[in-house]
Amino acid sequence: MRLAGRTSRIATSPTMKVSATVDRLRREGVEIIDFGAGEPDFAALESAKAAARDAIDRDFSKYTPVAGIAELRRAICERYRLDYGVDYQESEVILSAGGKQALFNTALALFEAGDEVITHSPYWPTLTEQIKLAEATPVIVQTRAEDGFAIRAETILGAVTPRTRGILLNSPCNPTGALISERDMTAIAQEAARRGIWIVIDLCYEHLIYDSSTPHNLPGVLRRCCPEQAVICGSASKAYAMTGWRCGWTIAPPGVVAAEIALQSHATSNINSIAQKGAIAALTGSQAPVVAMLDEY
Ligand SMILES: Cc1ncc(COP(=O)(O)O)c(C=O)c1O
Repeated sequence: MRLAGRTSRIATSPTMKVSATVDRLRREGVEIIDFGAGEPDFAALESAKAAARDAIDRDFSKYTPVAGIAELRRAICERYRLDYGVDYQESEVILSAGGKQALFNTALALFEAGDEVITHSPYWPTLTEQIKLAEATPVIVQTRAEDGFAIRAETILGAVTPRTRGILLNSPCNPTGALISERDMTAIAQEAARRGIWIVIDLCYEHLIYDSSTPHNLPGVLRRCCPEQAVICGSASKAYAMTGWRCGWTIAPPGVVAAEIALQSHATSNINSIAQKGAIAALTGSQAPVVAMLDEY
């Protein structure tokens, strides 16, 4: 069987393999605790469920704009304004099927053959595979347990070469939980601005921070230091226990968002219309359940 070369350059998500194995063992009656996928042990927010039920009852079940309905794009802008004091416009937001598709769209929109993209290890395996799917080369900077897995500007910037096209950071980091400090983020962002390198931040775990004394306003730093080159990928999955709803987003300069809309328009179109209504309720309603989940964790 002859398959396209790109299929042999990537490995199936090991996380998904763990999930499939757990599923099989459970069906065989084995009692097992799954440490594979980052799956919140909670039901989705009641407000999201009610809004989704209402959406079904009102037949809100047609195609929507590829980037998502305006009300949801605005809800994301408002959430980030409240959380970080940064103003984004609707034209800077696209909704995708989870943070995973947001990151994938971003890799396809920004990177290509010959490019190097720096990221840090240990990492969530999808990040490097997506870089490879974009035909670029991941360059891995190791973080260390004895250093708290800190993501340091000097080691990230030490890996920059003339081929570096992007720096992909995940903070809070899955699997280490490490946070990049605003100081390190500033140093990286300033250098990226000087060299014309894209900064992509995976903020999918942004609401699961235990150490509230560490300032983590990364959107604020990016807005200040490299607004033209910053891409944020976020998600309702972990914060609102909505993993199966598949609702993530990219916040980026309008040109990047336009490119991602074009890509997504030929792949999956809009995310599920019902989930969009649920996500609006989660994003605009009380954030108390998020704090309650964090306390429980
Ligand atoms: C670091 C990281 N980023 C992004 C995601 C994407 O999650 P989702 O596609 O459910 O938003 C995950 C999922 O586990 C993750 O661990």
